[in-house]
Amino acid sequence: AQADKGTYPFYMLKEIDEQPNVMRKLSQVYLNDAGDPIINDDLLTALKAADRLYIVAAGTSYHAGLVGAKLFESLANVPTEVHVSSEFAYNQPLLSSHPFFIFLTQSGETADSREVLLNVNDQHFPSLTITNVPNSTLSREATYTLLLHAGPEIAVASTKAYTAQIALQAILAKALGVAVDQPAATAFDVKQQLALVANGMQSLVDEKATFEKIAKGALLNTPNAFYIGRGFDYAVSLETALKLKEISYVQAEGFASGELKHGTIALIEKDTPVIGIITQKNTAGLTRSNLQEVAARGAKTVTIVTDSLAKDGDTVILPTVDERLTALLSVVPGQLLAYYTSLNKGLDVDKPRNLAKSVTVE
Ligand code: G6P
Repeated sequence: AQADKGTYPFYMLKEIDEQPNVMRKLSQVYLNDAGDPIINDDLLTALKAADRLYIVAAGTSYHAGLVGAKLFESLANVPTEVHVSSEFAYNQPLLSSHPFFIFLTQSGETADSREVLLNVNDQHFPSLTITNVPNSTLSREATYTLLLHAGPEIAVASTKAYTAQIALQAILAKALGVAVDQPAATAFDVKQQLALVANGMQSLVDEKATFEKIAKGALLNTPNAFYIGRGFDYAVSLETALKLKEISYVQAEGFASGELKHGTIALIEKDTPVIGIITQKNTAGLTRSNLQEVAARGAKTVTIVTDSLAKDGDTVILPTVDERLTALLSVVPGQLLAYYTSLNKGLDVDKPRNLAKSVTVE
């Protein structure tokens, strides 16, 4: 059944607002009262047997995979690769001896991802589909399924499915890490952190007027824009740039902030928007220097910074959570900036040109 838009002008805004509850729902479904993950034993056994994880996905789900890989590596100490489905399908890289495949797909119907799953099944490798749609094709055809419980996502531009995919991967990485006795996983209180994330998301979505103002000031009349960051922040830069491209038709790029100076900085002109995401202590100073470099060339800089790392003059302050989960908060301003840019251009936010919610052709 199609969800009701209620009083919202567009589904996208409703779905952005639903994110705090999606975090709480995942916590309820996948964590017990003590905060321990509730994950099927067979799935955990299969994950433990793997020497490497391969996350395969398209679009926004691919971006959620980039964050997930860092979670599996840091919490469960298992090497993890992330691949774009349409590439992997016809250019399969050399695999480790015991690969395990994780398909991230909101719809469970993406043809590019299904093509990879068919190949994986032919090779008899174990797989997990993480999807929002029960009984979807990829959920039926994989060895295991975990559901996102995000509720129907109607807007073409994905928001709550992205944050749900990251939160569920965090829970799964914690479960695997505990199962293989990784101290980082044992010490990671995912239940408490997801509760902090949910509250943090709520405080961000309650600041809509602020994001509309930033969108109008920096993004409404620009032909292009850059989002920059390092590590987790780079992964979120890619996703927030995609959001802006999809619904506002601004040419936007997510960039590793240190790489900008190796070529792309040539594109910076007076008033080019450069949005810096800063949530990681070890690279905060470096990204700040990169922002100064572009500001010196005329860029209009916007900063999205974790409270504990904030300085005078920062534009958006994010509540502090565990550094491994900051993507769940730093993406929200990017979603809202894209939304308000599209809205103020008078575009159809939910149904951008040339795009489909679920792409069932390769
Ligand atoms: C389409 C949608 C994107 C989505 C991608 C992957 O291109 O427009 O928003 O991220 O498919 O979809 P999936 O359902 O596999 O996550």
